[in-house]
Amino acid sequence: MSGRENFAGAVGAVMAMAGSAIGLGNIWRFPYMAGQNGGAAFIIIYLLCVVFLSLPIMLSETIIGRSSHSNAFGAMEKIAPGTGWKWMGLLTVISPLIILSFYSVVGGWSIGFAVKSLYPGFDNSVSSVFGEFSSSAWKPLICHTIFLLVTAVVVKAGIRNGIEKFNKYSLPLLFVLIVLIAVYSLSLPGSEEGVKYLVKPDFSQVTSKTVAYAMGQSFFSLSLGVGTILTYSSYIKKDTDILKASASTAAFDMLFALIAGFAVMPAVFAAGIEPGAGPGLIFETLPFIFVKMSAISPVLSHIVAVLFFLSIVIAALTSSISMYEVGTAYLVEEKHMSRNKAVAVIFAFTWILGILCSLSLGPLSGLKIAGLCVFDFCDVLTSNYLMTFGALLYVVFVGWKMKRQTVWEDFTNGGRQDINVKVFKPLYFLIRYVAPIVVILIFLSNLTL
Ligand code: PFF
Repeated sequence: MSGRENFAGAVGAVMAMAGSAIGLGNIWRFPYMAGQNGGAAFIIIYLLCVVFLSLPIMLSETIIGRSSHSNAFGAMEKIAPGTGWKWMGLLTVISPLIILSFYSVVGGWSIGFAVKSLYPGFDNSVSSVFGEFSSSAWKPLICHTIFLLVTAVVVKAGIRNGIEKFNKYSLPLLFVLIVLIAVYSLSLPGSEEGVKYLVKPDFSQVTSKTVAYAMGQSFFSLSLGVGTILTYSSYIKKDTDILKASASTAAFDMLFALIAGFAVMPAVFAAGIEPGAGPGLIFETLPFIFVKMSAISPVLSHIVAVLFFLSIVIAALTSSISMYEVGTAYLVEEKHMSRNKAVAVIFAFTWILGILCSLSLGPLSGLKIAGLCVFDFCDVLTSNYLMTFGALLYVVFVGWKMKRQTVWEDFTNGGRQDINVKVFKPLYFLIRYVAPIVVILIFLSNLTL
């Protein structure tokens, strides 16, 4: 398609996809999940899930995006014109916008905490800071607005000048920051217990639930089933090896999750605190630890706290940008809007839904949907249902709707990538048979939760 932007090269494409994958899920969910579910045993299962399930799903999204060079809705229409598939595609345009709305609220908290931790008063009031902050009306809304605005500015700047550039600089910075924090965390007295918690293999903890958790985590962590990988792949050039790009993305994501584990858990154990999950871990436990450590070196613990929240902000931004782009590409290509207008429309939608999510933790907590507050409803709806449904859609589309020859051509770049040919057969088998069955099972098990 002439006039359509693309990533300058394979490195930029991988950085963008890895940026989408690496996010809050790596920092607040992975370390806790690994610790709770058998340490190294969980990590091994997680790795197997990534290779045999998530990678085939990711490749399916990549193939749909790259072969159509279209947004998540247009791609379906282009490959299967006149069928109902485009409406399925439309679903995967909407779901990332729902995720973005509450993700931006959490991104906003991180901005708020990065700023708060600059001030000395942070030390004294920390135990109550998070509850007060997240349930108050105005502060989180201002932070949500700032977070979403920064995301919008990057997306508005375009694929190469905005998204590719931002990821190219921020991802290496993010790795440096998290490694520094991990080194600091590992240097604290008593940190060895945290390392043990994370890596000691304990197969007695492994049940069928563990496998389901590992799968769910790998979906969320790799941003699967919601059109982000598809949309980014539509900007990948025809000569880029997509297997290499997808595998590198998964590898970076895994590596980051592990380092984040070593940044978080040793500090938690050094402070003698029970590890928890979710926002509590990042916004309650860790600030408390930074305060405790300030007895040892006040300046250093302040610096670590600021850097830690800064790295969360960056990780969240690189993910939110990818979600924002899904809707933007759709509006530009299908509704023929200018990029500026599309960015404004997406802003309006996610800003308002984000406000509802944020207020639902405080003043609007009485407003329930299916027994959940708006924030939790959006989270459960997307993580448990829409992501798995989207993933199923993509593997069935590539495995059963697209012609095998078309898939092969795209996978091998027209037969030029010899190495990939050998792995095509098993991967195609995984996409066609294994992934759909497993994803249906996960979907059903989520229904019974
Ligand atoms: N992969 C991101 C994380 O681990 O935090 C979350 C995410 C990003 C989910 C983009 C979905 C998405 F479209």
